[in-house]
Amino acid sequence: MQSIVEQDLGTPARVGTPLVTLRIDGQPVTVPEGTSVLRAAALLGQKIPKLCATEQLEAFGSCRLCLVQIEGMKGLPASCTTPVAEGMQVSTQNAQLARVRRGVMELYISDHPLDCLTCPANGHCELQDMAGVVGLREVRYGYAGANHLSAAKDTSNPYFTFDPAKCIVCSRCVRACDEQQGTLALTIQGRGFDSKVAASQDVPFMDSECVSCGACVQACPTATLSENTLIERGQAEHSVVTTCAYCGVGCSFRAEMQGESVVRMVPNKDGQANHGHSCVKGRFAIGYATHPDRIVKPMLRARISDPWREVSWEEAIGYAARELKRIQAQYGRNSIGGITSSRCTNEETYLVQKLVRAGFGNNNVDTCARVCHSPTGYGLKQTLGESAGTQNFDSVMQADVIFVIGANPTDGHPVFASQMKRRLRQGAQLIVADPRTIDLVRSPHIAAAQHLKLKPGTNVALINSLAHVIVSEGWVNEAFVKQRCDLESFAQWRAFIAQPENSPEALQPITGVPAASVRAAARLYATGGNGAIYYGLGVTEHAQGSTMVMGIANLAMATGNLGREGVGVNPLRGQNNVQGSCDMGSFPHEFPGYRHVSNVQVRELFEGAWGVPLQSEPGLRIPNMFEAALDGEFKGLYIEGEDIAQSDPNTQHVTAALESMECIIVQDLFLNESAKFAHVFLPGSSFLEKDGTFTNAERRISRVRKVMQPKAGYADWQITQLLANAVGYPMHYTHPAEIMEEIARLTPTFSGVSFARLEALGSIQWPCNAQHPQGTPTMHVEEFVRGKGRFLITAYVPTSERVNPRYPLLLTTGRILSQYNVGAQTRRTENNRWHAEDRLEIHPHDAEERGIAEGDWVGIASRAGDTVLRARVTERVQPGVLYTTFHFPESGANVITTENSDWATNCPEYKVTAVQATRVSQPSEWQKRFREFSDVQEDLLKHAASAPK
Ligand code: SF4
Ligand code: SF4
Ligand code: SF4
Ligand code: FES
Repeated sequence: MQSIVEQDLGTPARVGTPLVTLRIDGQPVTVPEGTSVLRAAALLGQKIPKLCATEQLEAFGSCRLCLVQIEGMKGLPASCTTPVAEGMQVSTQNAQLARVRRGVMELYISDHPLDCLTCPANGHCELQDMAGVVGLREVRYGYAGANHLSAAKDTSNPYFTFDPAKCIVCSRCVRACDEQQGTLALTIQGRGFDSKVAASQDVPFMDSECVSCGACVQACPTATLSENTLIERGQAEHSVVTTCAYCGVGCSFRAEMQGESVVRMVPNKDGQANHGHSCVKGRFAIGYATHPDRIVKPMLRARISDPWREVSWEEAIGYAARELKRIQAQYGRNSIGGITSSRCTNEETYLVQKLVRAGFGNNNVDTCARVCHSPTGYGLKQTLGESAGTQNFDSVMQADVIFVIGANPTDGHPVFASQMKRRLRQGAQLIVADPRTIDLVRSPHIAAAQHLKLKPGTNVALINSLAHVIVSEGWVNEAFVKQRCDLESFAQWRAFIAQPENSPEALQPITGVPAASVRAAARLYATGGNGAIYYGLGVTEHAQGSTMVMGIANLAMATGNLGREGVGVNPLRGQNNVQGSCDMGSFPHEFPGYRHVSNVQVRELFEGAWGVPLQSEPGLRIPNMFEAALDGEFKGLYIEGEDIAQSDPNTQHVTAALESMECIIVQDLFLNESAKFAHVFLPGSSFLEKDGTFTNAERRISRVRKVMQPKAGYADWQITQLLANAVGYPMHYTHPAEIMEEIARLTPTFSGVSFARLEALGSIQWPCNAQHPQGTPTMHVEEFVRGKGRFLITAYVPTSERVNPRYPLLLTTGRILSQYNVGAQTRRTENNRWHAEDRLEIHPHDAEERGIAEGDWVGIASRAGDTVLRARVTERVQPGVLYTTFHFPESGANVITTENSDWATNCPEYKVTAVQATRVSQPSEWQKRFREFSDVQEDLLKHAASAPK
């Protein structure tokens, strides 16, 4: 538990510069060159008054409150904008400085409402503090002159209010939006007395370019920009540091609390992934955790057509265990399994796979990473030797060429996108490979040097053509390859990639990307300095997802862009704990730490620790579970935190499989789409209600800390433990720290990880062991984890999902900033104000051909099914390509996606579906059935509390 007041040293730290010694008020202090006098004084404990300066932003020097005297310097320089110098002698306090500072404060206060006692910032307002610090006792100018006190509030944003009457025009908000967020939505309009903060062209915040990240709110030293929750509830009395439960950036937050109620989430300045920044989801969209839709009592029913019945935990767990055992007795040991989620903590995921392997006695465990980043695990393990990204996020600040492939960071990984944009504004070059014109291609002060607007499904052809240029134009880093890579595999790859059919010219008809652009991009990546690749689901969710990951690794190895800061191969993980859920052994073929279940030594290690014999054959993957269910061989499923009925492809196939099972146990916060097919509902806990860890896209393990008691009585790891005990496999953990102890004991890459070390270091990037007790920010530094880097042949094989006269368009999917994954959380927040429905993006040419106008209902049909969405006519997509998000179940995006999948990992080919689009006037048949079924299920839920016990 922490105090809610954070120290602010006034200006950003400087690192890596020579040290300078000066004297401040007679005391010596040594700091890096470039440090401001203000910060040097603060490090000495001398608090110079300040208003416009904050350590999160570069100094601006507008308020004139931080004036000091410096020997040999004329006038009174602002200490925030004055860098230290060797031998400098600074005075921070004397009568003249006090007089000037008081005068400055008088001017501010003469145009400021005197409602401190009723102001939301009372007691935490820097203006109020400074009035006290400078000893302000009177305002000689009075309060009756021209002022801004009647300026109207802007309450358009659902999460914060802008009250310009309180603004001191310090421009911290403007600079936060520019420097930290990179949206540049705010300006100071007008001059002198007329200056004011304006969003975009002086429109309400909601109508502006603002993306509601909250950086300006955090930066504001007054109550001008305040969270609505702070205004409504008052200030917090303690705070707890925890980790965002949304995306794979893994931002650290201070949950500011009043007792067990969250007042606001404040991004943690010490957070090593986010450095005090956040996005609209992590900062504001936590209302789902206390939403009335939360189910907080266990429920049972024998058939999915029966009403739900609220029962005790004992009854629910007892029933679930009996059913699982009955099914195994009747249909065999392999007839049940479990699915864990990337939304679960590491400890929860570990327990689920342990329950399945040791308690169920089979390896039928899988995770939602199956449908997103499983090709990353496979492709990087095969080439580099470890199933993880190679860098930390800060590494991007050393990159000279940033190559973004199949990722949309400003929507999917917004805080990292802000950091990336900062580097791009500093002058790094950008290459984007994406079928769509994502925001990054052109944003304020940023323009991609190359946008390789490829056709969906042609990634491997594109990466081969890029590699061809590198090989044929002599850009291979021969020294790196010779020293670090397996030369036999390199020779084979070089011969393959040099073939004329891999040239950009030969592949242009396939990729649709002009050969000249491919050549220019390849040259830039190979010769532009540090080249860093960031990729997302646009790489993995393809029939050749694993091949593409290997192609990316080949490209990085061939150009020597691995093993140091500023380079690397970096998968941007979608959900908060994708990396962790994979690390924890939730795939059917691997124990924690990516060790195959057939490895006798490893299996014996786990058998020894867990006290039971373990299967040596991989279990069923999620799609195989569906197949086996439809074949009548798989009858029981325990799902923790995942919604396969919405997130997995070919919804009708998935729901048919679910309907065929005899016992589905869903552990979740809400009656999600999968729970509508369940027989047992175990109410889960939100990230605010439990302890544990998440591992972000940088392999960074961070603590999740309980800030309130679990609403249903148990944290998720406890529920899994109850189930394990009930099926006859004893578990007796008393805290997730003990689970992590076991993980560390059994997993070499985690052997140095413990809650105590996380407490000491803040967070840890694995591998963390005896060789790397502080963790590993950059991987493969001296050598690759597998020894020599291995090149793999990446022949392009076109997907079978091709356009034809019946389905002449290609649909691809993605996500949007304000919503998250299946939307179960964000749809229950005000984030719906930005995105209340999934829309179908269609190029004006395709729209016109079909008589489709903006907002029209469009029927989209594939060979798997059809659905209806409203049209957004836009040139963001290329002709022939459609795009939609998948955050709303009734959109049925996955009714259309097919069962095509990656050859190596079964990761679904979400990114390419051949479809036809037509203007329609009513929902699809599936949507009508979906609505009816959902209505029935919601009705059956209403009976839960009143049903006889
Ligand atoms: S909330 Fe973020 S994007 Fe919006 S104005 Fe403030 S800093 Fe800019
Ligand atoms: S809104 Fe706040 S941060 Fe922005 S100029 Fe006004 S007082 Fe400063
Ligand atoms: S960037 Fe990701 S981790 Fe950070 S606040 Fe947003 S959703 Fe949470
Ligand atoms: S804090 Fe230095 S001028 Fe405002």
